[in-house]
Amino acid sequence: MDFESLRRLMISNRTVRRFDEKREISIEELERLVELVRYCPSGRNAQPLRYVLVNDEKEREKVFPLLKWAGYFTDWDGPEKGERPSAYLIQCLDTHLGANCLWNDGLQLEAITLSMHTLGLGGCIIKAINVPGLSEALDIDNRYAPRYVLALGYPAEQVRLEEMDGSNDADFKYYRTPDGEHHVPKRPLSELILHTRN
Ligand SMILES: Cc1cc2nc3c(=O)[nH]c(=O)nc-3n(C[C@H](O)[C@H](O)[C@H](O)COP(=O)(O)O)c2cc1C
Repeated sequence: MDFESLRRLMISNRTVRRFDEKREISIEELERLVELVRYCPSGRNAQPLRYVLVNDEKEREKVFPLLKWAGYFTDWDGPEKGERPSAYLIQCLDTHLGANCLWNDGLQLEAITLSMHTLGLGGCIIKAINVPGLSEALDIDNRYAPRYVLALGYPAEQVRLEEMDGSNDADFKYYRTPDGEHHVPKRPLSELILHTRN
């Protein structure tokens, strides 16, 4: 892969919160995604993360109410029936292997979402989760602490990147326009680079 292809993949790999729920995702497809995280870097190489794979409709119905979608959209409770995710990956920390994730969580989630995108799938990384509720609903042993839920499915919404104006107090909140498009402001490169010493 060349740099430009990877850059295009990263640009188009946006968070999606509305899906075509009729299109199913098999357990084999979920396993294929999780297999990739074997190759992620890992602090101490402890590889402490585990996944619960959910695609069954009844199990999905247990997970959905335990998630908080799009915190900035105070008048939206998440996707309607028919637009909900076709699957979930519940990322859990094996607490016997460490008390924290040392960034393994984010690295693996980015690897999975990028690879999902190459398969035509979209998703949303969700931190606002009811952890005890999830452990109970999915029978997760208390040795394994749910860290994130990755909701995934076939995208049914348009997402557009927007340039932020480059000032520190510029508004970074994502928003939705009346045509249903979701807009995500991103800071310009000039703001990311503090200074250059050459
Ligand atoms: C660590 C992390 C936690 C997140 N938690 C939530 C969440 O609880 N609910 C949600 O709807 N989106 C959540 N998101 C998605 C972000 O809102 C999304 O990444 C952000 O708006 C930027 O959009 P983009 O992913 O298209 O760049 C989370 C993303 C990350 C990286």
